[in-house]
Amino acid sequence: MSRTHLLVCRGPDCSSRGAHAVYTRFATEVHEAGLDDAVVQTQSGCVGPVCGAGPVVCCYPTGAWYVGVTPGDAPEIVGRDLARGEIVERLEATTREATG
Ligand code: FES
Repeated sequence: MSRTHLLVCRGPDCSSRGAHAVYTRFATEVHEAGLDDAVVQTQSGCVGPVCGAGPVVCCYPTGAWYVGVTPGDAPEIVGRDLARGEIVERLEATTREATG
């Protein structure tokens, strides 16, 4: 079985930065996009290297780690990464770290 995975960090730092609201918005967006059967959404603990830049969201199979994610970013990540396999460069950890 192959599915798309969405991991929303619920570690202490991301939680203090609004990860609960991000998680809830993603659940709504996945449902409204008709992707309930295609996407496995779960919470994760601290994902380490990008801690402090959260909320952090990791998507697979693209392998993109998104940082500073807000509830308002959920529609774009669902519509592009999860639905079409396109990385949302403006939110990707490496892009943000490179541009500050
Ligand atoms: S608490 Fe989310 S990356 Fe550390």
